[in-house]
Amino acid sequence: MAPLKAENFPKLQNDLILRAARGEKIERAPVWIMRQAGRYLPEFQKLRKNHSFFEICRTPELACELTLQPIDRYGKLLDASIIFSDILVIPQAMGLEVLMVAGRGPVFTAPLETPEDFSRLTENVNVTKELGYVYEAITLTRHKLEGRVPLLGFIGAPWTLMAYMIEGGGSKTLAKAKSWLWKYPKESHALLQRITDIAIEFLVGQVRAGAQMLQVFESWGGELSPYDFNEYSLPYLRQISTKVKERLVNEGLDLVPMTIFAKGSWYALKELSESNYEVVSLDWTVDPVYALEVTNNKVALQGNMDPTALYGGFDAIREIATRMVHAFGKDSRHIANLGHGILPTVDPEALRVYLETVQKVSAEIRK
Ligand code: CP3
Repeated sequence: MAPLKAENFPKLQNDLILRAARGEKIERAPVWIMRQAGRYLPEFQKLRKNHSFFEICRTPELACELTLQPIDRYGKLLDASIIFSDILVIPQAMGLEVLMVAGRGPVFTAPLETPEDFSRLTENVNVTKELGYVYEAITLTRHKLEGRVPLLGFIGAPWTLMAYMIEGGGSKTLAKAKSWLWKYPKESHALLQRITDIAIEFLVGQVRAGAQMLQVFESWGGELSPYDFNEYSLPYLRQISTKVKERLVNEGLDLVPMTIFAKGSWYALKELSESNYEVVSLDWTVDPVYALEVTNNKVALQGNMDPTALYGGFDAIREIATRMVHAFGKDSRHIANLGHGILPTVDPEALRVYLETVQKVSAEIRK
């Protein structure tokens, strides 16, 4: 099948999340869930049985199908979709092999050990050639969504990707990746800049393909001290938001809202709210009232129920979700989500209760 073109997209019927991000009036908090297309859904497991994880990412029809699964299942209870892909497609595009291993998660077959290993990275990555499959998946999904909800694109932030490229997978201490910061600060900055350049190009390409909002995942932000966050994360996060926006304007593309999710980096909330992102996403360890005070309505806030609360039974979910909506309050630009991705063993009906509660309570408090 010839790929569909990034034009004549169906008219958007629900722009609640875009309005919340831009600080316009909303009748209730929009809600979506990180990892909403994932293993907790039986329809995901069924498709996943026959295909490897990255095969799905690289096959636009399959990535599109998975992106739509939660939208089809929950209907009007979800206010956004996020393209099915992974943050590790950038390291792959840079020349590193990544496998998804059952029970272990992502595994790099040959992680970076010292800066000499830069010789194994592709010199000038052709982003369209290497990651064009993500663009095709986005364009196809924009058509198949038929305007039901906006489609989000995303990337992993430079520090998080650098850490994966050195650790070679998940890690409790990030001792290897952080050793680079102490042993090879100059080379660490060089690597972060290389990732940043690709990230900017990739995000602009996602918008060109049809992404209507962008999220940057700094999943390992909280592993850095405030000093090191300012040195090794924040400058690159700022470059990304600023340069992506410049390029969107220069290319005559829509200036889409951008979200930063720096998990664990509560200490940087003020700086993040002054970093050219429209939305700052919070993990569950941040008190919404504190976040509202520190960010002073400069950004929309996204989050942040503890993902494990979905194991608490329907009554507890209703209670905790209600408390969260009240904490953000009726005057805030709140985009409801969990404080991190939904866990693979959650009951899909528990998520339904969360979504229903958020929509009901956040509409009630705005009446
Ligand atoms: O629905 C969506 O949110 C869109 C798709 C999406 C996935 N990964 C699919 C996925 C998104 C936005 C991501 C981002 C991602 N990937 C992050 C940032 C968010 C976060 O969690 O902090 C990170 C760190 C990754 C890297 C990654 N990919 C890990 C650590 C894992 C393994 C997790 C585990 O528990 O095993 C993945 C795999 C992955 N990415 C799955 C999905 C649906 C499950 C893979 C499978 O089916 O085996």
